[in-house]
Amino acid sequence: MNPKRGRRSADAESKLLLVTGRERYIGEGLNFADMVHAYPIVSPAAHGLIRGIDVSRTQAVPGVRRVLLAGDIPGKNGIGASRRDEEPLLAFNEVLYVGQPVGIVLADTSETARYAAHLAEIDIEILEPIFGIREAVAAGSLYRPPLEIHTGDLEKAFAEADFVLEGTLESGAQEHLYLETQRALAIPKSGGSLLIHSATQGVTDVQDAVSNVLGLSNHSVEVDLMRVGGAFGGKERGGTMWAAVAALGTWATGLPCRIELDRKDDLAWTGKRHPFLTDYRAAFSKEGRILALDVELNANGGAFEDFTIPIVERAMLGVDGPYSIRNTRIIGRGCKTHLPSNTAFRGFGAPQASFVIESIMDRAARTLGKDLAEIQRINFYRDGEETPYGQRVYEAFSGEILDRALPKYKELLAEAEAFNAVNHHKKRGVGLLPVKYGIAFTATFLNQGNALIWVYMDGSISLSHGGVEMGQGLFRKVARIVARTLGVREERIKCETTNTLRIGSVASTAASSGTDINGYAAYLAAKDIRAELRKAASQMLHEEVGLAPTPEYIEFEDDYCWDKRLADEKRTFEALASFAYFNRYNLGAQSHFATPGLSYDMEAGKGTPFAYFSLGEAVVMAEVDLLTGGYEMKSAHIVHEGGEILDEAIDRGQITGGFLQGVGLCTMEDLRFDGQGRPMADSLSTYKVPAFSDLPEDYSVDLYSSRNEHASIFGSKGIGEPPLLYGLAAYFAVKHALEAFGGGAVESRLSNPATPEAVALEAERIRKTTKTGKGTA
Ligand code: MTE
Ligand code: HPA
Ligand code: MOS
Repeated sequence: MNPKRGRRSADAESKLLLVTGRERYIGEGLNFADMVHAYPIVSPAAHGLIRGIDVSRTQAVPGVRRVLLAGDIPGKNGIGASRRDEEPLLAFNEVLYVGQPVGIVLADTSETARYAAHLAEIDIEILEPIFGIREAVAAGSLYRPPLEIHTGDLEKAFAEADFVLEGTLESGAQEHLYLETQRALAIPKSGGSLLIHSATQGVTDVQDAVSNVLGLSNHSVEVDLMRVGGAFGGKERGGTMWAAVAALGTWATGLPCRIELDRKDDLAWTGKRHPFLTDYRAAFSKEGRILALDVELNANGGAFEDFTIPIVERAMLGVDGPYSIRNTRIIGRGCKTHLPSNTAFRGFGAPQASFVIESIMDRAARTLGKDLAEIQRINFYRDGEETPYGQRVYEAFSGEILDRALPKYKELLAEAEAFNAVNHHKKRGVGLLPVKYGIAFTATFLNQGNALIWVYMDGSISLSHGGVEMGQGLFRKVARIVARTLGVREERIKCETTNTLRIGSVASTAASSGTDINGYAAYLAAKDIRAELRKAASQMLHEEVGLAPTPEYIEFEDDYCWDKRLADEKRTFEALASFAYFNRYNLGAQSHFATPGLSYDMEAGKGTPFAYFSLGEAVVMAEVDLLTGGYEMKSAHIVHEGGEILDEAIDRGQITGGFLQGVGLCTMEDLRFDGQGRPMADSLSTYKVPAFSDLPEDYSVDLYSSRNEHASIFGSKGIGEPPLLYGLAAYFAVKHALEAFGGGAVESRLSNPATPEAVALEAERIRKTTKTGKGTA
């Protein structure tokens, strides 16, 4: 009765290729007798008017097959995110950032294409660029009028406040640094259609943008991929341009066309996390209750709108943090500057907002000389309270989560205090940071998923859905959901590529909603198949053992099925699948899921943008060397409330990976541009990211799974992005260590990211402004 018939599972095969490194990235392993490689000709200037492009030297290079400029595009020259015509694929009149493509070289090898591209001469009339947020706001360089959210009576609250905090906060850019750089491979198909293997989180966006550029219908553009080698938001839109370049190459030559950016080009040309500059004013009572918040969140969007507006919006919807604030004025601006277009990055504006509200809470605790934990607690949302945008908060567990984090927090505070009493050049500080993260796309229409399942006559199962696997474990989670629903082992299920012919009109895999929408759709499809299999099983058992056919009595588990009334008569899933096929049952199902209850009006700043919230709290202790500015994380503890856990290993991986990426954002990753709009860090020798070794030995994750009515499939919650915010606790740990240096007398103005350089400068400033510091320097 071994349910395995000795046939090899293709899925196991694909995992083997992955772990042995034989098949990692898009298009690897696909070779052609004849093909072309593409490399773009890019703008050397941040802002200017194109007077002419001379490609005669490019064309003369042996091995160059074609050079394409904007005028060669057969369809429309537009790949913009919210409006196609807002962002051209190839610049034709004006260039808006260094690295913007103006042409494409198609050659026999990528080396030839690259070499030849650099021989092109672009005659540009240089115009004044804008790089900074303040300059952009002053010049009115915005994509759209500012967004606004208002609640309560702001001026009354400020007038009645016991104290008011004011200030400006900045947070920096962040490079995605996916292992697999941007790439695509286009292959001609019969009838003028084409197939594109694209490194993307958004197959539908690629399909539609390529259709637009080539003047084809969506049905003629097939996008397919097995997985991407990391994305972190950088391929939600980021892959679209390169897919369109490859598609254009195939259209122009009739040959397969590949483009793969090398690391340096990828770093230089592609958009990053949005830097934010925020001016705030916050009113408090003497007990530490926040009474009003007046903030202006300004994001540096770069050359094109891309996702800047929804990112600003998510920042506006996250700046309340886990705190109930009755009176608010929240303004959001997307600033247009002459940098590569900034784009989605894990957190999508929420980390920037969390930094703002937690900086304010930290200052409030300091001002009152009260424990930060208590300030947080008295401000936490209570069940049924409304956010500034009018969504009610249910299952508001922040207090319970804080209770779980509190023993560790107290212990570390005492440890730091003892350490600081006897150390002068080194100080320790503790950060405590709560998270409340809204799960769902704020653009309601994106909250839909699709799935397609086939059960074959040998009992093997093919599973397709609209989600993209990027290392986050989505495929495994969705397979688990299907296995659980059908009562079969996961090994039976093959996760198919993400493909626009099999699954149409899908949202990008983003907003931490991959499992919520695609997993739910797969569950619904599996349920349809289960209903059909119940009928088949009851007929089978009727014929074989004479039971009256009653489908409701059929149970499925562990690769077997049986009738509750006769549990000894178990049948294998193979036997059932075969019987079902020969007796003409429907063994395929397609399903669609749309997250219920969502609606948000961006103009009014009101509605229910989120399905539910993921909650948690992080405690981090850091040790700072005040002479060198160096620091180290000594302890990190995370309490995460993630609903029912579908796969603990995956969720722990997401929490730790997200946390470290957040630590990098606020303590290491410093991305600056020079006066010409060129990134100063163009490789990993100049751009520092956290490594495994940066995770402290004293590290733990407490998965606090609550019963959640407002969660998604099987009570689970989105996990992809929220944990990144925990990393911000490291910034506050470093900040508090610096403040300990001044004996607590001087408030640190530590910049973000708190690089060793920033820490050393701040230590110096604190030393100069305190008496206590003088003796130690
Ligand atoms: N984890 C890995 N390993 N690689 C990634 O690229 N992307 C993150 C997160 N976790 C990412 C990751 C981002 S930005 C999002 S939105 C989610 O995964 C998307 O996947 P999900 O919706 O299935 O959680
Ligand atoms: N989150 C992530 N990606 C998105 C969103 C969002 O809310 N909206 C559009 N793309
Ligand atoms: Mo994630 S930034 O929503 O791709």
